[in-house]
Amino acid sequence: MATSARLTLDPSFRIAPVEPRLFGSFVEHMGRCVYTGVFEPGHPLADADGFRTDVLELTRELGVTLVRYPGGNFVSNYRWEDGVGPVEDRPARLDLAWRSLEGNAFGLNEFMAWAAKAGVEPMMALNLGTRGVAEALELVEYANYPGGTRLSDLRRSHGVDKPHDVRLWCLGNELDGPWQMGHKTAREYGRLAAETARALKRFDRDLSLVACGSSNSGMPTFGSWEAEVLEATYEMVDYISLHAYYDPSDGDADSFLASGADMDHMIRSIAATADHVGAKLRSRRQIKLSFDEWNVWYQSRFHGESSLEWAEHPRLIEDDYDVTDAVVVGSLLITLLRNADRVGVACQAQLANVIAPIRTEPGGPAWRQTVFHPFALTARHARGEVLRVEPECPTVSTARYGETPAIWATATHREATGEITLFVVNRDRRNPCALDVTLPAGLAPVEHLELADEDPSATNTAADPDRVVPRPGTGLRLDGRRATLTLPPASWSIVRFAPQE
Ligand code: AHR
Repeated sequence: MATSARLTLDPSFRIAPVEPRLFGSFVEHMGRCVYTGVFEPGHPLADADGFRTDVLELTRELGVTLVRYPGGNFVSNYRWEDGVGPVEDRPARLDLAWRSLEGNAFGLNEFMAWAAKAGVEPMMALNLGTRGVAEALELVEYANYPGGTRLSDLRRSHGVDKPHDVRLWCLGNELDGPWQMGHKTAREYGRLAAETARALKRFDRDLSLVACGSSNSGMPTFGSWEAEVLEATYEMVDYISLHAYYDPSDGDADSFLASGADMDHMIRSIAATADHVGAKLRSRRQIKLSFDEWNVWYQSRFHGESSLEWAEHPRLIEDDYDVTDAVVVGSLLITLLRNADRVGVACQAQLANVIAPIRTEPGGPAWRQTVFHPFALTARHARGEVLRVEPECPTVSTARYGETPAIWATATHREATGEITLFVVNRDRRNPCALDVTLPAGLAPVEHLELADEDPSATNTAADPDRVVPRPGTGLRLDGRRATLTLPPASWSIVRFAPQE
């Protein structure tokens, strides 16, 4: 039975401008994200630098604006010096995070060259697990100082004359997690992050710094970790990080489809925690949120790092995404946009092969997973200002999050053209929803696409790479200032409205 819902799109209900850094991704030295993912010298489509041009093209099509690198858990035991200079002199190392052999053929300068070709901003993570302030400063000098010092001249001797001028730096990764090399208490990490931030800001006070928040909202120290870390670092950092991965654990698809409710709650909790610390410290600053790892990840299929055999770029967590996963990814992007006044950076983890929108085969093709599509369409069309959208709609009962609104939506407005784009999910798996949209005068629909399928478990594969693609929505009607459309069960939709000629 069809349910019904309504919402209003009004350009005066503004939340914040769309921050391009919300469409970030993540390249970690993990599994086949780097090797045979973005980098595969010898592949028929590799360019002179060994970068896969098919993956570069898909990265641009995906609309990625920023890429976090080189980890992830990998960074907490990484020596950046191993990845620069003549390739033949670079050492092989043990990557303890993923029990992998790291040959170091791809390092900082390769990543920066790749980022320039992909047209993305680099976001670098520092090793604050097994290393400290000195090594962080050395990396920043190598990367960002123009020349005339030992490390900047070393970079120049490596063929990179101009500094990379990286603006955004993560002060470590997930250091609250006992699995992390160099795991720390909040007090230990807060002290180290503060010392590192103070030194980096002395080097360049305009660097943007991200302090590590909790690894996930289930950590026993969630909330208290952020409070203690921010008390130590508040005046020196710009962002606190959040990480969240979702999957339909124990087959609970209703809760899975409502993952955006959890992400929304996390964002509000950590924003409130940061503001509480700011109030206690009588600070006028506001800390923004960097949701620098988010995605669907079937963690139940991964048996832990200790279960892994030592190998060189093994196939790790190469989840095959289906239609429902794409709907959830679309809903997580809606959640990030709904919180655009607070979330300043977001990175889908990861870009290629490892829980990724882009899949590749070594020596073979690259293709778009289902989750590629909502990301690409959102990154392309979310422009201008984010509008507050509050649907009146039924709820869906979920075991994990209680009653959650069946319709989850956001919209953006481009003042220059008058266009409004609606992004909307029907989280109800059983019923389609007749949605009634009240528009500003003079707008008419110009495009309506949806992700939905008779078979929600359908996936894209190398043999059938376009099995799941956005398809034109049906039944959209306009009557004066009212548009009506039907949202299929468990679906993600985008509707673009533009001024009528
Ligand atoms: O993205 C995979 C891993 O998930 C990252 O290395 C780590 O930061 C997180 O736990």
